[in-house]
Amino acid sequence: MKNIILTGDRPTGPLHIGHYVGSLRNRVLIQNKGDYDKMYVFIADSQALTDNFNNPKKVRDNVLEVALDNLACGLDPSKITYFIQSEVPELTELTFYYMNLVTVSRLHRNPTVKEEIKLRGFEESIPAGFFAYPVSQSADITAFKANIVPVGDDQLPMVEQAREIVRRFNSIYNTDVLVEPNVLLPETENERRLVGTDGNAKMSKSLDNCIYLKDSEEEIKRKVFSMYTDPNHIKVEDPGQVEGNIVFTYLDVFCKEDSFEKYLPEYKNLDELKDHYRRGGLGDMKIKRFLNDVLQEELRPIRERREELAKNPEYVFNILKEGTLKARKKASETVKEVKKAMMLDYFE
Ligand code: TRP
Repeated sequence: MKNIILTGDRPTGPLHIGHYVGSLRNRVLIQNKGDYDKMYVFIADSQALTDNFNNPKKVRDNVLEVALDNLACGLDPSKITYFIQSEVPELTELTFYYMNLVTVSRLHRNPTVKEEIKLRGFEESIPAGFFAYPVSQSADITAFKANIVPVGDDQLPMVEQAREIVRRFNSIYNTDVLVEPNVLLPETENERRLVGTDGNAKMSKSLDNCIYLKDSEEEIKRKVFSMYTDPNHIKVEDPGQVEGNIVFTYLDVFCKEDSFEKYLPEYKNLDELKDHYRRGGLGDMKIKRFLNDVLQEELRPIRERREELAKNPEYVFNILKEGTLKARKKASETVKEVKKAMMLDYFE
């Protein structure tokens, strides 16, 4: 079986460490492992417009931000195809045909869309484009015949929607043109949906509870030191709770084998540290200082590469331009096959 991998980001803001552990880190690992025939990563600017249609500058500006984040994390344009969604109009074309295969009530049941409708205050009147974006996402995936989609938890309903569309399309038009995608989730629950620094399940700019990949050393430190721990752990001697304690949640995700040796050699591993915290006698400052060291080590090289790349936006847009050309070629092949299956091939 040929593996075709595809994933993307909405350019609505610079990416944070939730994106990093949920998808970016994983996609770079996959890219470097090389166990695939083709790998596509893209910037979902048309999708970002579905709920930012009145703020095009925000989307426009964040295309570069998101590209910088990806390249700084190690995305390698010589191994993958990196492109911009709106520059591949074939995706819009497929979306229109797929709309016929989806019901309004099915879209209403999509839990991610439901959550977003509430979040954006769209309950009164939902823009049709926004409502239908899972269909456009199905087009993104199927245009490249991707069978593996590495994403975080929130994207599961989108991939499920794409699977349904593929099955319906192939059965109605009696073809095997489209390929059913599978999600590839990160290993642990915490990585699939990293909580915010305030313990909120959703990381969001407006809550000021995210650490961004572009954050300076000082910003990271400030955010780590203001993190929620155990509200009942008041004195150092008090026994503390590890479950639901954000510092430990983050340590679970970011601690490496050699982190203790480097930054906290009086403990062997995270289990020992947790035991001490539970028993009492371990202060919050100490665990926060440790988490800060661990995070700084992980984010420093990314930030430095990002600063270098940011000096040369033209280089970044050239990567996207070349990738987009390749992506268009592949997508237009699929559109041809799709139209043929639907008997829309008059001049062939
Ligand atoms: N919805 C994704 C996000 O919010 C972005 C995206 C658009 C995507 N199309 C996709 C991800 C196709 C994976 C596959 O980040």
